[in-house]
Amino acid sequence: MSTPHVVVVMGVAGTGKTTIGPLLAARLGVPYAEGDDFHPPANIEKMSAGVPLDDEDRWPWLDAIGTWAHGRAGLGGVVSSSALKRSYRDRLRAAAPGVVFVHLTGDRALIENRMSHRKGHFMPTALLDSQFATLQPLQPDEAGVEVDVSGSPEEITARAMNALETLPHPAR
Ligand SMILES: Nc1ncnc2c1ncn2[C@@H]1O[C@H](COP(=O)(O)OP(=O)(O)OP(=O)(O)O)[C@@H](O)[C@H]1O
Ligand SMILES: [Mg+2]
Repeated sequence: MSTPHVVVVMGVAGTGKTTIGPLLAARLGVPYAEGDDFHPPANIEKMSAGVPLDDEDRWPWLDAIGTWAHGRAGLGGVVSSSALKRSYRDRLRAAAPGVVFVHLTGDRALIENRMSHRKGHFMPTALLDSQFATLQPLQPDEAGVEVDVSGSPEEITARAMNALETLPHPAR
């Protein structure tokens, strides 16, 4: 049997990381961790006060996600993290060298529509604009796949499973 993947589900806000992540983990038979749960208290305070995080705030958060991912090496796991910039993914890989990325992609209108139906979450249009402006897609040297988010969560999860099949598994 091949070594299970440690997957980071990435993409702009509203692409379905929190929706697809647990479904993908269940299909792979591995644990899921929600990236948002790894913020240090200082970040939570800042976000609660409505202050946007800067990159300096993000490093300890990414390191905590990376530590979890590293702990799953050889065992498998799925964690969500928007990981919009190459530098964020480099940071995750530095902590967890074998991670692979599933980049959830979709057109803006679809994502905006889904966000508008999300309960208990208000996402101004400008925030989605800034997410798309910040996004740096996976580069050819990065282990990962792009998965389109049209269709049902089950369809997207099946698409992600198929796409992951194309990636080499980490060596034992
Ligand atoms: N395939 C789908 N079909 C219909 N609705 C969906 C689908 N995937 C996700 N949604 C809905 O779209 C909204 C955004 O999804 P979700 O919260 O999973 O995104 P996210 O990437 O985790 O966002 P954030 O970055 O803000 O945490 C939610 O209301 C979710 O229920
Ligand atoms: Mg989420």
